[in-house]
Amino acid sequence: MNHKWTTHSWRKYPAQQMPAYADREALDVAESELRRMPPLVFAGEARALQGHLGRVAFGQAFLLQGGDCAESFAEFSAVKIRDTFRVILQMAVVLAYAGSLPVVKMGRIAGQFAKPRSSDIETRNGQSLPSYRGDIINGYEFTPEARQPDPQRMLKAYHQSAATLNLLRAFAHGGYADLHRVHGWNLEFVEGDATSKKYRALADRIDDALRFMAACGVSSETAAALRETEFYTSHEALLLPYEEALTRIDSLTGDHYDTSAHFLWLGARTCQIDHAHVEYLRGIKNPIGIKCAPDLKRDDLLRLIAILNPQNIPGRLTLIARMGHEKVAAYLPPLVRAVKSEGHTVVWASDPMHGNTITAASGYKTRRFDHILSEVKSFFAVHKAEGTHAGGVHFEMTGQNVTECIGGREAITDEDLSSRYHTFCDPRLNAHQALELAFLVADELKAARGVNPVAPVPAAAGE
Ligand code: PEP
Ligand code: CO
Repeated sequence: MNHKWTTHSWRKYPAQQMPAYADREALDVAESELRRMPPLVFAGEARALQGHLGRVAFGQAFLLQGGDCAESFAEFSAVKIRDTFRVILQMAVVLAYAGSLPVVKMGRIAGQFAKPRSSDIETRNGQSLPSYRGDIINGYEFTPEARQPDPQRMLKAYHQSAATLNLLRAFAHGGYADLHRVHGWNLEFVEGDATSKKYRALADRIDDALRFMAACGVSSETAAALRETEFYTSHEALLLPYEEALTRIDSLTGDHYDTSAHFLWLGARTCQIDHAHVEYLRGIKNPIGIKCAPDLKRDDLLRLIAILNPQNIPGRLTLIARMGHEKVAAYLPPLVRAVKSEGHTVVWASDPMHGNTITAASGYKTRRFDHILSEVKSFFAVHKAEGTHAGGVHFEMTGQNVTECIGGREAITDEDLSSRYHTFCDPRLNAHQALELAFLVADELKAARGVNPVAPVPAAAGE
């Protein structure tokens, strides 16, 4: 790929997983409307994120990335955004405390709409229609009209992303994320639960520390880091007409940035070298991710790294391993070794969701909490053995009280799945499960960092 890159050079390459828009003219109209829209994020923010990720690559910070598998138009609400944001804040506090490390917070949010599918066609009762590819492309309803890709949906997704981002920015900088509110982030429906009690005990300790710091003159008034937080957005760079239309030249550097999100990733199904998605991503300067599935060959990964980060800039690349709990111990080490021996500086993160999807006896697509935890533990073990950093975790989760993944302390069973199964795509951890997992990941992080063991958080009454 030595030819000149442009925002549209990807169009000359074969592209997987792209919708077939029937009305070319309607697509042109939507693309040119999008090109006139203001950017959703600024290049300087993407650069700041890359700097933070650079520290993650060197083991000086930890990455927490999480959110919906697919955002939807129907489920869009302020409450839902707030609940996702607050669970991520809670998880980040748990991880930061355990690891004595800054935690880089990134949502799969404000743009995570397009979905790769294993089949182009879905058949129900003898009727075959195009598969649902996410609300930015077509509708979930199983009718010919809904399943027809509609380019105007890109505009709707843009506006929803803008409104989502607006609220996230307000939460991050307007007082909601002030560390003094650490108790207030606990979700009402989690109250009383053992994990929530553990969280409260941790929040008490943080309160103590804050009181001590206030006595030393450090407070929300004097320290912005206590008063607000940085929260970044991310999604899979799948729908290239949308990403291209939001790609802009940064006036400060003259570089191209995809202003639809701070961080974009290359999905496991679109990582073919010499294909459109890799071509597009190589030219934008945002930090980017590569999903690493068990079938990703060592040499292909090295080629992708050479194309996507030829200057070996720390923080530019995050390799997101999504192997499956039974495969990670065998398939991850050769990749980690290859990357290390070639001298590439990358962030390694674990996505313990996408390799662990099963169909329950009830017919629901689900994931087992213990498989998710087991993949994360193996991920840490591999990095320990290889002398590399376990840099972060990537979860599909929601702040809502859903029943989509089996297990966890609430012991959700296959029979429970039908009660609140709301996802439009993959099964997500609910708020309890996400927080519980954060505590368990925190134990791994603490052990990996060899952090001086702080006295354990006292068990809460009733535990
Ligand atoms: C996803 O992250 O939602 C996804 C589809 O992942 P992967 O490309 O790893 O399958
Ligand atoms: Co998913």
